[in-house]
Amino acid sequence: MSLGKAFNVGTKGLKIPAIGLGTWKSSPGEVANAVKVAIQAGYRHIDCAAIYGNEGEVGQGIKNGGVPREQLFITSKLWNAEHSPSRVGPALDKTLSDLGLDYLDLYLMHWPVAFGEGRTKDDKPNIDWDLTNDVHPTWEAMENLVESGKVKNIGISNFTIPKMEKLFSKAKIRPAVNQVELNLQCAQPELVAWAAKNDILLEAYSPLGSTGAPQLEDPVVQEIAKAHNTQPANVLISWQVARGIVCLPKSVTPDRIRSNFEDIELSKEEVAKLEKQAATFGTKRTVDPSEGWGVKIWED
Ligand code: A2P
Repeated sequence: MSLGKAFNVGTKGLKIPAIGLGTWKSSPGEVANAVKVAIQAGYRHIDCAAIYGNEGEVGQGIKNGGVPREQLFITSKLWNAEHSPSRVGPALDKTLSDLGLDYLDLYLMHWPVAFGEGRTKDDKPNIDWDLTNDVHPTWEAMENLVESGKVKNIGISNFTIPKMEKLFSKAKIRPAVNQVELNLQCAQPELVAWAAKNDILLEAYSPLGSTGAPQLEDPVVQEIAKAHNTQPANVLISWQVARGIVCLPKSVTPDRIRSNFEDIELSKEEVAKLEKQAATFGTKRTVDPSEGWGVKIWED
């Protein structure tokens, strides 16, 4: 059981619970209860984002969970349309007001992509290429949020190694985490090794393969689950934790929310088996808006 298992985050000696509840695609009408159930089951970490369109309800769930604020770790994310430095502070204020909180434990730049106003003729977002090719002005505005006390840590999401190298060379505050897709079909071992060497914590979104949790059907995952007398979801979640990665499984189903929190101890051999199985898939992303946005997100 990893009840309370946590990693170090940032440079101020703070901890981040290793398993957090994901809230992407959790509908209004379902998510307040999911968050409450999670907190009552022992989760102390909830992962949110403005673009999920449900932060008001997530806030209700946090309140109904009945745990003091300082015992919780709450993350949210700056949406692409808010990258202009003057918009960053107001975007955070809106998220805080929706969640009913006065600070976040972690605020992430959701994508290394900035949207300008309006849409193109073929209905793609109007990309702000200046703030996309150089995210540093947006990052500087996020650094100011730490100084204001409204966020304890700042980080990034969906950044490749070259994009991290570029940002790290200029950042006054180093990103504490990079939240990316990590699962059996998108294990990204080079990124995992780079992150460990460069002291940035990774967080796994879509750890079960996203909607419908297709990776639960994998025969290697099923075999290991059987050996531990547990469910395939626990194998996939515990594998990320064993890799030193914060894992953010999403569910709105109370029984799944509860059982996903049961971390199992995988042996070194089992971890190696999962890495080997993952290598057979290469990098098969389930989340890739490159085409829809007209931006080469993963190429540098
Ligand atoms: P639901 O929210 O209806 O319970 P990911 O975390 O990779 O994004 O996966 C989310 C998907 O996996 C959702 O469809 C969620 O369904 C489903 N899911 C979450 N936990 C489990 C579980 N323990 N067993 C089966 N499906 C699960």
